Amino acid sequence: MEKRSVEVQVGLDSDFALLLRESLAYEIKMESRSKSKLRGFIPICLLLAVGGIVYVGYFCPDHVCALTSRDSSWTDLTAKVPLQDNLGKPLMIHSNPVNLKATNPGLSYDDVFNENFQFDMNAHDVMVFLHIQKTGGTSFGRHLVQDLDLQRPCSCQRKRKRCHCFRPNRNENWLFSRYSTGWKCGLHADWTELTSCVDSELDKNEGDSVKRRYFYITLLREPISRYLSEFRHVQRGATWKNSRHFCGGRTPTHDELPQCYKGDAWLDVSLDEFAACPHNLAANRQTRMLSDLALIGCYNMSYMPSVEERNRVMLASAKKNLASMAFFGLTEHQKESQYVFEETFNLRFAVPFDQHNATVSSFTLSTLRPDQVDTIKKLNALDLELYEFARKLMYQRFARLKDRDSQFEDRFAHLGELRGRGGVELDWDKMLDEDEDTTSSAVNT
Ligand SMILES: *[C@@H]1O[C@H](CO)[C@@H](O)[C@H](O)[C@H]1NC(C)=O
Ligand SMILES: *[C@@H]1O[C@H](CO)[C@@H](O)[C@H](O)[C@H]1NC(C)=O
Repeated sequence: MEKRSVEVQVGLDSDFALLLRESLAYEIKMESRSKSKLRGFIPICLLLAVGGIVYVGYFCPDHVCALTSRDSSWTDLTAKVPLQDNLGKPLMIHSNPVNLKATNPGLSYDDVFNENFQFDMNAHDVMVFLHIQKTGGTSFGRHLVQDLDLQRPCSCQRKRKRCHCFRPNRNENWLFSRYSTGWKCGLHADWTELTSCVDSELDKNEGDSVKRRYFYITLLREPISRYLSEFRHVQRGATWKNSRHFCGGRTPTHDELPQCYKGDAWLDVSLDEFAACPHNLAANRQTRMLSDLALIGCYNMSYMPSVEERNRVMLASAKKNLASMAFFGLTEHQKESQYVFEETFNLRFAVPFDQHNATVSSFTLSTLRPDQVDTIKKLNALDLELYEFARKLMYQRFARLKDRDSQFEDRFAHLGELRGRGGVELDWDKMLDEDEDTTSSAVNT
């Protein structure tokens, strides 16, 4: 069973395995680099650690040190203290902290699948929604807070313009997203930002002793449509300039990430201008937002001067991270996405997801000159490859879930048909204005 899925994975994308190996080599290289700097510290740390254990073991009275149980032996102690905090990393990394480098990261979803995992809302599981601009994440984000059939539905208040999505048994968030927790890790935070931030943000409210499991979810969209949609959004005044792009412990300097326009916004920019700015984050946005940017030295181009190298590592990392997400949906395939989400999390939406076939962007596409189409394809070459990878992987997951579902036909024909539900409708359009940093009241796709 497992072997077969490995073959499928490799057949899916022959470069994937190779690229992964290379990107991991970078990861390891970077680690050993920092290790040599830290070499002097290690003896001191060891000394402190041993000192601490000796203190805990011998001098600290039992009634003070709740850490140790009555018969605390050495093995007891190490077995009870987790090896490391998962620091907001996705499920895979948490569930396998020791063998991370040795395991094939592309299989982590399969591991989860084979272990027959359950998202446990009563325990410490957290769903983290990585919302990439113009992928349909706004509607999906609304569905998450408003339309899930939950034992304890999110409580949405019109005035606060937020929802509390709490666990059934206590007031702790199980959903980390714009409409529940807010943009706690920055506006449209990417993988790099979320994984270094989510855990500490939740710690602020819930204490840092909680060991949470994180289930990352995201949506991807056909890259050319997404790019054009972002272009039109920027043309109308969106900037997302409050995005932090936090990476490697800091935000990029102005030289590392120059602005494409002068003034407050890039109103009425032409498509040619938009495409010509080399620092425009719209290009390959999905790949960049899903990859571990620390691997390429964040926004510092001199860390890895070769563009080809950067691109290769970034794409491989994005594929790896996507494949290890508990769920990702495709904007073009709403129904399948809904089914995969519901089956993966064993949760049901009370409404069917809408499929918008004729989008504004496809209208724009038909009005472009052939050279413009070429340019946009080149600018988004990584995203095009990532999307192709995602499409195959999504259908693979869909097929597996379908195969084990004896009621598939019926389920699929009646997705989102749960009756008798209805809560407070939020004023979504108003919320868009406030959150999206846009001067128009454009409806976000
Ligand atoms: C960028 O990376 C180069 C090479 O690793 C390094 O020398 C330089 O200090 C970095 N720049 C910043 C602003 O960190
Ligand atoms: C979208 O396409 C599907 C299948 O091609 C069709 O059934 C549906 O009516 C279309 N929806 C809209 C809004 O055009």
